[in-house]
Amino acid sequence: MKNVLLLLAIIHYGYSSKILGIFPAPSRSHYILGSALMKGLAEKGHDVTVISAYGEKQPPKTKGAYRDIVVTELQNSIQEMFKEQKMGMQDRQNLNPFFSVVFAGHMLPKIMEKVLSNEQVQQLIHSEEKFDAVIVEQFLNDGQKALATHFGAPLIVLSTIGGNFWVNTLVGNPAPPAYVPAMNLGYTVPMTFRERLVNTLLTALYEVYYHVHVYPSENARIKKYIPNGPDISDVLYNVSIVLMNSHPSTNQPVPYVPNMIDIAGFHIKAPKKLPQDLQEFLDSAKDGVIYFSMGSNLKSADFLPEQRDAVLKTFSKLKEKVLWKWEDDVLPGQPKNVKLSKWLPQQDILAHPNVKLFITHGGFLSTSETIYHGVPVLAIPIVGDQKLNAKTAVDNGFGLALSYDELTEEKFAQSVHEILTNSKYRTNAKKRSELFHDRLVGPMDTAIYWIEYAIRHKGAPHLRVAAVDLPWYQYHLLDVMGFLVLVSLSFVVVSYYVVKVVCKKLYSKPKTNKVKKH
Ligand SMILES: *[C@@H]1O[C@H](CO)[C@@H](O)[C@H](O)[C@H]1NC(C)=O
Repeated sequence: MKNVLLLLAIIHYGYSSKILGIFPAPSRSHYILGSALMKGLAEKGHDVTVISAYGEKQPPKTKGAYRDIVVTELQNSIQEMFKEQKMGMQDRQNLNPFFSVVFAGHMLPKIMEKVLSNEQVQQLIHSEEKFDAVIVEQFLNDGQKALATHFGAPLIVLSTIGGNFWVNTLVGNPAPPAYVPAMNLGYTVPMTFRERLVNTLLTALYEVYYHVHVYPSENARIKKYIPNGPDISDVLYNVSIVLMNSHPSTNQPVPYVPNMIDIAGFHIKAPKKLPQDLQEFLDSAKDGVIYFSMGSNLKSADFLPEQRDAVLKTFSKLKEKVLWKWEDDVLPGQPKNVKLSKWLPQQDILAHPNVKLFITHGGFLSTSETIYHGVPVLAIPIVGDQKLNAKTAVDNGFGLALSYDELTEEKFAQSVHEILTNSKYRTNAKKRSELFHDRLVGPMDTAIYWIEYAIRHKGAPHLRVAAVDLPWYQYHLLDVMGFLVLVSLSFVVVSYYVVKVVCKKLYSKPKTNKVKKH
């Protein structure tokens, strides 16, 4: 008996599944998250295939096989779109949220076209291969879910940007506009009347625009590129598990249905050794270091001269050292205490005890990494969820935010000085960090557990809430409210007539008396 158990344990331990990951968003930060998840699975012993815009420079050495399918056509497509629309950093920052809904919706079918028409992807589709699970990133990526149906595998969704309209609708997650702000509005709770109004209208725009334009045009592409392709309406709402790149320590708390699982921080690794020049630079900074990076999509080299001067003048007057991710070869007027580099190992830098402040665009990766290491931030948010992350940092007391427009030397210097000298920011950052780390199971293990769970049970229909199958008027209880209004109205009308008839009777008596007198 013992031997049988041991054998079962060994078989179970060595159990390896075939998993397909689809992460075509043409944005490095999204790719970093998708590939981190797939590497985690491959390290556990699963055979993974990854469709993306970038791929790995060198295939990672993992226990299971790691195969890349790179759709090179996707690279730079966001930058091209911005260029097409002639949008610089300033315009992107002032992007109207209603326009951005339409802009993203406009990109979706284009990205889908590039992915599905890719030669290698077509080969995979027409091969006899099967998968045990298909993981799709929920960002500019709807129709690709049909590949889960095609490969006969449970569908798992990774939301790299936490909760939002796109994932909530898939699994019937309640997101009342009264207190759940749309991701790209940059609102925090409690919302003012105006904010709630805008939030409601934006949610309505999403609903209408996606159903009228986006889903139908994606559906046409499913039929075009996938043999016997399913209907998009059968695919969208068939999600087994949603892995959410969020956590109450980094996001506003909101409701989640049972198949939504928080895994923020899953991409963060234990600190590695720094390259020698950086190690020396950081070790020798006895007054501390400011780390400055605008992320992988935005470039601080794109700053306008005024903004750049404001930053340079401020840095040149500091006793602290500055490590600046700068993408050009030269920086005119580079101060002595500033070190430049085109690429920097961000996580390992934030782990260094001498780093006192992180000046960031406030992207979610940067925000969660800074919370992980307990480093306060000065955020200069530009697009997407960055404003929201910045505001959350301000509300939680571990940072300040400046809009790109108001980036004057005075304001910039004042904010930097405030964070460096007021210890409350560091204390609050450490507090957030403690909340971030305080979990039953680490985020990568949580993610792998739930993916294997979906594989073991061949999907997870038992976690699905009934909201997904309700028509919209039933979901919003419009029929019940309509019924109640009707009943109340009938009651009022009936009462009115009853009172009228009774009154008539009462008043008509003296009249008849009068008649009798004649
Ligand atoms: C929906 O998911 C279940 C469980 O993974 C699967 O058996 C079924 O084929 C899927 N349906 C479609 C249309 O993808």
